[in-house]
Amino acid sequence: MRKKVGVLVSGRGSNLQALIDACAEPGFPAEIVLVISNVPGVYALERAAKAGIATAVIPHKGFPSREAFDAEMDKVLRVAGVEIVCLAGFMRLLSTGFVESWRNSMINVHPALLPSFKGLHTHRRAIEAGVKLHGCTVHLVTPDLDDGPILVQEAVPVLASDTEDSLAARVLEREHVAYPLALRLLAEDRVTVEGNRALIRDA
Ligand code: GRF
Repeated sequence: MRKKVGVLVSGRGSNLQALIDACAEPGFPAEIVLVISNVPGVYALERAAKAGIATAVIPHKGFPSREAFDAEMDKVLRVAGVEIVCLAGFMRLLSTGFVESWRNSMINVHPALLPSFKGLHTHRRAIEAGVKLHGCTVHLVTPDLDDGPILVQEAVPVLASDTEDSLAARVLEREHVAYPLALRLLAEDRVTVEGNRALIRDA
């Protein structure tokens, strides 16, 4: 049985597209059953619709609290039978209750080699810090931001000529490889968590 996946988005959805494409491959162990956006009209919703995937728009502004918004998302995900949640450019902090209820079943892609450069503006900060290697990380989501056991990392060189945009583009290409791989590992039940480490069977 393929694992049922819900993807949370807020924007252009290029990582969503990478997951859609991976799920279309024969034998891929997961299928996307629902895409939720907290922002109406974003391109990610079009990508989902084109792929024939159900979408829901849940504008966070309509809720009295973060917890109330998260509770609504949780309900919609559960009704759709979602087993794994993928955050793909979802630009909202999640409440601890929501994160705990999806513990070890929710993953995020972060555009840096964690634990370096948590938070925003990772490419600019990497250039400013003078690192020679940068990249992306797919990790299980825990209540602390951009923390949590690491499933997959991909590194890219930082070139002397790089701008924030050129570095972002190089990293994004690797995100599109790392994210489907991480989803595969999780969907195949090959991930065991020990403390802050994710151990991958047959890696
Ligand atoms: C990606 O860089 C991802 O790492 C970050 O937000 C961006 C989303 O891009 N979390 P997209 O919407 O998947 O194109």
